[in-house]
Amino acid sequence: MIEQTLVLLKPDAVQRGLMGEIIKRFEQVGMKIVGIKMVWMDKEFSKKHYAAHIQKPFYKGLEEFMTAGPVVALAIEGLHAVETVRKMVGDTEPKKALPGTIRGDYAHHSYAYTDKRGIAIKNLIHASGNAEDAKQELALWFGKKELQTYKTVHEMHVF
Ligand code: CDP
Ligand code: MG
Repeated sequence: MIEQTLVLLKPDAVQRGLMGEIIKRFEQVGMKIVGIKMVWMDKEFSKKHYAAHIQKPFYKGLEEFMTAGPVVALAIEGLHAVETVRKMVGDTEPKKALPGTIRGDYAHHSYAYTDKRGIAIKNLIHASGNAEDAKQELALWFGKKELQTYKTVHEMHVF
């Protein structure tokens, strides 16, 4: 039941100074940050991370967006971490993402605006979609030695 998942704070989150605000939300629910680093992706790495989307019409804009500045990669651990983090992140389209979610609280971009211009929807954050993706993405982003094992106070009350 205790899972790990990958989160990326995308270049818009870093450039808007929202790293702390977003990381705070995961800490607040008692999730454990077990890996963290800042990385400036190149196109090759973007194609590995978004392999499932390379053929899609929005990929070019997505790659431009994701390689336009550094991202912060987080390995997050918690009960049902994959599902819980996705819930906290909210809908892919910020226009549709509910208030209370990260995308809903800090962004309002719409497909109607971005698709017409061939640009990516700026939605601040990536989170693994399911347990299998999480495993693959964590292996792509973090070496075994970069994932830490330690105890938090939450483990007394949450885990
Ligand atoms: O990130 P999420 O899993 O919610 O969505 P996705 O369907 O896996 O798409 C990956 C990313 O591609 C999104 O987070 C958007 O940044 C981008 N995207 C886009 O720019 N325009 C679209 N029409 C669809 C996705
Ligand atoms: Mg996805």
